[in-house]
Amino acid sequence: NWTMVNIAEESIEAVRTQVGGKRAICGLSGGVDSAVAAALVQRAIGDQLTCVFVDHGLLRKGEAEQVEKDFVAATGVNLHVVDAQERFLAALDGVTDPEEKRKIIGREFIRVFEEAAREIVGEAAAEPVEFLVQGTLYPDVVESGGGTGAANIKSHHNVGGLPDDLQFKLVEPLRTLFKDEVRALGEQLGLPPEIVWRQPFPGPGLGIRIIGAVSKERLDILRDADAIAREELTRAGLDREIWQFPVVLLADVRSVGVQGDGRTYGHPVVLRPVTSEDAMTADWARLPYDVLQKISTRITNEVRDINRVTVDITSKPPGTIEWE
Ligand code: XMP
Repeated sequence: NWTMVNIAEESIEAVRTQVGGKRAICGLSGGVDSAVAAALVQRAIGDQLTCVFVDHGLLRKGEAEQVEKDFVAATGVNLHVVDAQERFLAALDGVTDPEEKRKIIGREFIRVFEEAAREIVGEAAAEPVEFLVQGTLYPDVVESGGGTGAANIKSHHNVGGLPDDLQFKLVEPLRTLFKDEVRALGEQLGLPPEIVWRQPFPGPGLGIRIIGAVSKERLDILRDADAIAREELTRAGLDREIWQFPVVLLADVRSVGVQGDGRTYGHPVVLRPVTSEDAMTADWARLPYDVLQKISTRITNEVRDINRVTVDITSKPPGTIEWE
């Protein structure tokens, strides 16, 4: 599409002008925004860009692989992967408060990113690393108070707050764009549809979709349930109609069930499909009953410890999209 060709070319040119011959780093979260920002900057400055992917173990099934394989294949970007799963689990041990989880995940993310950045900055190279690429979108600018002064309702974490001796100039090529424009730009840049059409996913990941303390076992259960919900949504051809489809594990709640010949005492999951334009407001999605039925049957049959599936029919407001 003509407009997107223009936006892509102009943005690439702007990044080239801003960065010149210097180097840049970019944190990849697995999400659309950082992927498109990185792909665009890669087009502009090639090997002067190094991407860092912190695997915090809170991603959905297959997403780390998507970054490590598909994204690299599509863009040819230099990627530095840090496996920090144990570290995040240890830091989150026993923590149940949502904002506390966000703070811990944000803090650990910055520390791990900082260590990786130091390594990259320290590498012998002709030019120093001066720039940090971020996939900030227009609604992020507005929601964090940069625009019309809307309250910062949840502490959205970005790679801000780096120490004084690691200060970068920011490159934010998506700052004027909305999500749908970012997706169109991603397609224009040749990213695979699985990445471009990924649902928005919160930085703290599955950590804020487990109501209760986060553990490896609970993450694995939630990952399995979530993968089934996503699979059935895709199979029903509804990916592009549904803005986001969180699956939430009520890890501290148990209810009685019956499976096979026996009583069970397992956990419920909540399906939270929503439609939205920009996540500021949202409506609960009227998924077809047969799709809900399929997801419910499969989750209770295939995922251990889950014996009940519920659907959240609250709009935003008053509910938020996420449960934490
Ligand atoms: P809520 O739950 O406030 O979410 O309706 C609005 C949008 O923001 C995402 N979200 C986050 N994104 N860090 C992020 O990067 C966060 O801490 C965070 N909390 C919520 C959420 O998935 C939805 O798209």
